[in-house]
Amino acid sequence: MYKKTYPKTFPKGFLWGGATAANQVEGAWNIDGKGMSTAEVVQKADDRRQMSMSDVTQETLQVALADTTVERYPKRRGIDFYHHYKEDIALFAEMGFKVYRFSIAWARIFPKGEDQVPNEAGLVFYDHVLAELAKYDIKPLVTLSHYEMPIALTQKYNGWAGRETITAFNRFTETVFNRYKKQVPYWLTFNEINTGTWGFHETGAIDKGLSKKEQLQIRYQALHHQFVASAIATKQLHEIDSTAKIGSMLARMQTYPATPNPKDVRAAQLVDEKNLFFTDVQARGEYPEYMNRFFYENDIVIQMAENDQAILLANPVDFISFSYYMTNVTAHDQVGDGAGNMAVGGRNPYLKESDWGWQIDPVGLRISLNTMWDRYRKPLFIVENGLGALDKLENGQVHDQYRIDYLRQHIEQMKESIKDGVDLLGYTMWGPIDLISFSTSEMSKRYGFIYVDQDDNGEGTLKRIKKDSFEWYKQVIKTNGEQL
Ligand code: BG6
Repeated sequence: MYKKTYPKTFPKGFLWGGATAANQVEGAWNIDGKGMSTAEVVQKADDRRQMSMSDVTQETLQVALADTTVERYPKRRGIDFYHHYKEDIALFAEMGFKVYRFSIAWARIFPKGEDQVPNEAGLVFYDHVLAELAKYDIKPLVTLSHYEMPIALTQKYNGWAGRETITAFNRFTETVFNRYKKQVPYWLTFNEINTGTWGFHETGAIDKGLSKKEQLQIRYQALHHQFVASAIATKQLHEIDSTAKIGSMLARMQTYPATPNPKDVRAAQLVDEKNLFFTDVQARGEYPEYMNRFFYENDIVIQMAENDQAILLANPVDFISFSYYMTNVTAHDQVGDGAGNMAVGGRNPYLKESDWGWQIDPVGLRISLNTMWDRYRKPLFIVENGLGALDKLENGQVHDQYRIDYLRQHIEQMKESIKDGVDLLGYTMWGPIDLISFSTSEMSKRYGFIYVDQDDNGEGTLKRIKKDSFEWYKQVIKTNGEQL
């Protein structure tokens, strides 16, 4: 008789923590030698449901370059993590974080993208952040490129559309791998790499106003350059620090068919394949045939250098990470693919949505985890998941039971996946401390366990205040996911 004892909980050493990105927290956009980044030329959205992260044209770029204030560009101010990192990391430590995911601002290290020597002051800042984490035994998980690059590279090469950017990026990666070796056990190359198909915020390439076909050509070419740069970075890391691991990072958006009509099921599969394509390349080292066919049928020509395919094949990632916020629905006769909007596709009548229209689907997380594990058989890492909400600070307190409920439901599903046999390394929820929204650049969309006293206009004391969820997450970590 076959009898197996199932694990009842998360494995020992499971990496609980939180995730942020430099451009959404650091501020200090023009001090200590930092250059301007692509995130810092993006204006705040006029409306909560209108996303502005890729709304950059040559004209708005010129306006942004000439503007030395922060008012219209909230990512220039962040939450001033640059000067508060000790306090913030101490709060993460108080919650018991085992891991902290953050990104390095490329323009802090290479202000113009191709500088002769790296900016020492920028490197020193991350020395300090790493030292602070080490003090509390919190493992760093570092993203090399989280939705920003030196704006100089947009001006010179149209960002990742230019092949030259590969060389610039790999000088940056080599520099930081050498500087921080033995201190960073986990690295990620490109944040939510698949959103490069939406444009500027990820590719640094200005293509607004071009035809859809021209945009797809530019974006997939830019993404090819990122695939190659990511593979070269993987090779570099393995040579420089043989114990460190490097992963891919996908915005996982499972797509469901609107009905059991096989045509809808196939339509959903197609959308899903276009999402998984990115991890296919980074984990398996080659372009899948279904995408080669898509490129062929849509007249998209990916220019490859002679060695590109060999580089990809020789350097797959060590582990696979992804963000998870929502799922989508599609039908074979649906008009448009919704690209450019985070909440793509149709509505799912079985799901509730956040104030920003993101459909909340904890079971979808289990589906995603199991699908990805089945497909790749490489360790997985959930590096983002969370609820953006309009929190209310009353008498110095924030009662965010809705956030606790959201996170609890997702963690429960993670647990189920682990019982299903998924090898899950860890969970870094998004935005343990309130930060500037990526898609709208507002402050009111709060994710944190820690409230930051700053409003959409940048007014406030920047004081950090624990929300109810702070104590809750502390218990979750303390009990290794037992007490939810
Ligand atoms: C992910 C990004 O898309 O979602 C983060 O990697 C981002 O940078 C997060 O902040 C939540 O999105 P938003 O728009 O609510 O900040």
